[in-house]
Amino acid sequence: MPNQFAQERPPATTIFHGKRSTMKTTHRILAALTACTVLIATPVSAAGQHGDEKYQPEVGQSGKDVIWVPTNDELVNKMLETAKVTASDIVYDLGAGDGKIPIAAARLFGARAVGIEFNPDMAALAKRNSERARVADKVKIIHGDIFKENFSEATVVTLYLLPELNLKLRPTILKMKPGTRVVSHAFNMGDWDPDQRIETSRATGYYWVVPANVEGQWRLEGLDGKPSATLQITQRYQRIGGTITLGGSTQALLGALIEGNQLTFRYLTSAGALQVVKATVNGNTLEGEAQSPNVFNQVKGTRR
Ligand SMILES: C[S@@+](CC[C@H](N)C(=O)[O-])C[C@H]1O[C@@H](n2cnc3c(N)ncnc32)[C@H](O)[C@@H]1O
Repeated sequence: MPNQFAQERPPATTIFHGKRSTMKTTHRILAALTACTVLIATPVSAAGQHGDEKYQPEVGQSGKDVIWVPTNDELVNKMLETAKVTASDIVYDLGAGDGKIPIAAARLFGARAVGIEFNPDMAALAKRNSERARVADKVKIIHGDIFKENFSEATVVTLYLLPELNLKLRPTILKMKPGTRVVSHAFNMGDWDPDQRIETSRATGYYWVVPANVEGQWRLEGLDGKPSATLQITQRYQRIGGTITLGGSTQALLGALIEGNQLTFRYLTSAGALQVVKATVNGNTLEGEAQSPNVFNQVKGTRR
């Protein structure tokens, strides 16, 4: 297939963060930012062009913290599919460019969507694009800075930024409601491992679910006929482990998981049966069920 959009590659001297990057860094990031746009960047109006009669952005043009390169359609769809976006979601695209991710979230998945874009011309173009796509009732474009605007209402956050910008956003994202889904084109989140890697023919994305904070000591009621048990959890992002103490005996948890606000762990009862505990975490309390083959017991817990 001819490389019809090869001329859209940004020049190697593109300025990041308002200053010139080293050639090595520039090449590395440009390679990642442009890898998927070369063949299938989708023009908004006419072949080979982005934008409309009022504004024609150039792929690779500088932005406040990162240049503009659109995510290709295939990955946009896959990112939103992976996040299982539905009409009940509020999707925020941080650094929205021409608005294609919020527009796709509304048009293809029925979600409400918000794009935050620093470049005023780009933000205005994104708004016009949402009107042309007939989803202006569902899509809001905010002309603003992703580091200043509040996006805490999002149930899904999409990113196509830079590794260091993802890391700068990470503390804010980790404070979001447990279960918030995050999808990033090309760049990861440092030592916060993704829950899933998204591969398309031309690009890679990463997917995370914001985990509830469950670290610490919990007092549980409803396990193994004992008045109470002590659950001790150690946590790093969505990775958890720990012990349970019942009737004076402590054992390591046999597999523990936190997915959003859903805590699951297993242990052996005093009779040697495998007990599975599934609970919903809400701040410093949890509620759920302990299940062994034919018995279900209600479990309640409080963090100490
Ligand atoms: C790589 S583009 C991604 C565009 C879009 N999210 C997509 O995937 O097609 C990054 C966008 O972020 C914008 N941007 C850069 N720094 C920003 C900031 N601090 N706040 C808001 N937008 C920013 C740029 O102008 C650019 O449009």
